Amino acid sequence: MAIIEVKHFNKSFDGHAVHKDVSFRVEKGECLGLVGGSGIGKSVVLRSLIGLEKPTSGEIWIEGEEISKLKERDLTAIRKKVAYVFQNGALFDSMSVYDNLAYPLREHTAFNEDEIQTRIHDQLEEFGLLEAEGKLPAELSGGMQKRVGLARAMMIGPKVILYDEPTAGLDPYNTLKIRETVLRLKKKGVTSVFVTHDMPTAIAVCDRFVMLGEGRVLDERRADELSRKDPGPLERFITGDYGGY
Ligand SMILES: Nc1ncnc2c1ncn2[C@@H]1O[C@H](COP(=O)(O)OP(=O)(O)OP(=O)(O)O)[C@@H](O)[C@H]1O
Ligand SMILES: [Mg+2]
Repeated sequence: MAIIEVKHFNKSFDGHAVHKDVSFRVEKGECLGLVGGSGIGKSVVLRSLIGLEKPTSGEIWIEGEEISKLKERDLTAIRKKVAYVFQNGALFDSMSVYDNLAYPLREHTAFNEDEIQTRIHDQLEEFGLLEAEGKLPAELSGGMQKRVGLARAMMIGPKVILYDEPTAGLDPYNTLKIRETVLRLKKKGVTSVFVTHDMPTAIAVCDRFVMLGEGRVLDERRADELSRKDPGPLERFITGDYGGY
């Protein structure tokens, strides 16, 4: 069974259709690369997968449950399963790194403060962030902020993780760190959707690609089936040889 299934997804803003019948699936443990030109609607799809955005029509299934009509209260359970790594990290500016990481545990679990502290230390160690514990987000580099965002998204052990341009604006070292983290989480069995314009990283982490264009799925291919000899829209997009959409 697919963990995520998007069926005939349509989304319009002010009468302007951004998505016109988008359908795709993500299988358990798979990392799906969702690519396409800027403004094509990748972030809107990700936001819809955790109910932050409602489809104009169509369905979104997460682990066999149709979520697009769920009320805010019922979406809480979905957001425990599905974590969203926002492009800018979306950290709470006035909270230390420690409190940022504690937030999902205090919000969604019954752990006491001792248990929370243990888990945060383990997580900081795993993400190479021990020295950042007491700092505010503004005192960290962009790359560290992204790692904190990722560490926070993973605090309650989600089954699915949605990455929205996790390497945008990062130097090669921090890009590599994010790449390693994504691969490490994938090894643990986490299913993911990876939105990016960073094609080397996408190729390193994704098992399959879905390309959006003209409001629909323009192309779709397994990563090991990408062809240099016979390039389709997806290969041309990845190599930049597509003339823009
Ligand atoms: N809340 C909103 N209200 C109105 N229009 C919106 C809203 N959110 C997104 N859009 C529009 O939907 C389209 C798709 O936006 P989206 O942010 O999903 O693009 P994207 O593929 O993520 O682009 P990028 O690669 O630049 O991040 C854009 O035209 C955008 O202006
Ligand atoms: Mg976007």
